[in-house]
Amino acid sequence: MTITVPLPQGSYPIHICRGALPQAGALLSPLSCRRWAVAADDTVAALYGGAVLDSLRAAGLVCELLTFPAGEAHKTPETCLALCRQLARQNFTRADGLLALGGGVTGDLAGFAAACYQRGMTLVHLPTTLLAQVDSAVGGKTAVDLPEGKNLLGSIYQPRMVLVDPDCLSTLPRRQWRCGVAEIIKYGMIRDPAILDELERQSPDWSGVIARCLRVKAALVAADEHDTGVRRLLNFGHTFGHAYEAAGGYGAYTHGEAVAAGMATILRWQLHRGDHVTAAYRRLLALLEKYGLPHELPLTGDGLAQYMGRDKKREGDTLHAVLLRAVGEAYIEDIPFSALREVRT
Ligand SMILES: NC(=O)c1ccc[n+]([C@@H]2O[C@H](COP(=O)([O-])OP(=O)(O)OC[C@H]3O[C@@H](n4cnc5c(N)ncnc54)[C@H](O)[C@@H]3O)[C@@H](O)[C@H]2O)c1
Ligand SMILES: [Zn+2]
Repeated sequence: MTITVPLPQGSYPIHICRGALPQAGALLSPLSCRRWAVAADDTVAALYGGAVLDSLRAAGLVCELLTFPAGEAHKTPETCLALCRQLARQNFTRADGLLALGGGVTGDLAGFAAACYQRGMTLVHLPTTLLAQVDSAVGGKTAVDLPEGKNLLGSIYQPRMVLVDPDCLSTLPRRQWRCGVAEIIKYGMIRDPAILDELERQSPDWSGVIARCLRVKAALVAADEHDTGVRRLLNFGHTFGHAYEAAGGYGAYTHGEAVAAGMATILRWQLHRGDHVTAAYRRLLALLEKYGLPHELPLTGDGLAQYMGRDKKREGDTLHAVLLRAVGEAYIEDIPFSALREVRT
């Protein structure tokens, strides 16, 4: 199945297909690049690097594997620079392609390297985590972290193609899997309740669920590439989620666990001020329970507010909070920062 992300400067396809990874060479062939740098962290390189290189070579493409250490701690300017220097040493040019093979860290980091190296080389994402497949590989956000904060150095740089192979999720650790499920629940809550129907089944059709999420993401990115309007709906659960992540020192909880608790927290806040979101809240709690995700984390309103004050999406004394009218109907409301302190965790 193919979903197109329609953008003025160039639309691109997302191919969702079991077995896309071992067919990557054939899928990349229509692009003009004959030489590819395959960027992967060392974990993903060991699992899938060989299969990807074999596939590219079988399609007559020239390729090199460039690796870096796994983990958010390495999503830094230093790793990005090391990657660019590997590209330079191997004489890659802007006519060549970079295939980002891995989770969101690889997509963000290698995507930023592709955006900067010789002012931009062709970028293709082949996401290997559930989170990257439903979220980070689409939309063009690339970045590295600074000691002062996450994702502070980056750019919007769209890929030319995204290859989603649900088969490569079979090796994903349980906790990483749950992290992606939290984002999937988010898509259902903000836009597409059919995603929640599927998640509520005994054995969901995961490929179908991934495709539905990508349709939502593609539509929101197409409508608002630069994240100044409707794309912000994707931040549902993230205002409190980022605060939970920061409070846990970015190590105690995964992003997905923090977002799960963040979605529940914002709905509790809405309930507290009298919004009619009881049904949405109950449905969310049941799903979080089913998938082993938290609906609360140990941090009080004041503690949360302290961390939310550092959110880069904050503007002055208000926050663009993403709220629900009902399941599938999200909207943005500017809320005074002080009001969000009144939250029951
Ligand atoms: N650009 C965006 O729009 C966007 C959106 C959401 C998140 N992000 C970013 O994504 C990052 C988180 O992504 P992530 O959760 O995918 O983390 P990640 O890339 O670190 O992957 C998690 C771990 O799983 C391993 N792994 C990856 N694929 C595997 C597989 N198939 N089998 C076994 N192990 C595998 C990795 O080596 C890593 O250790 C954060 O840095 C976040 O800022 C970006
Ligand atoms: Zn997220």
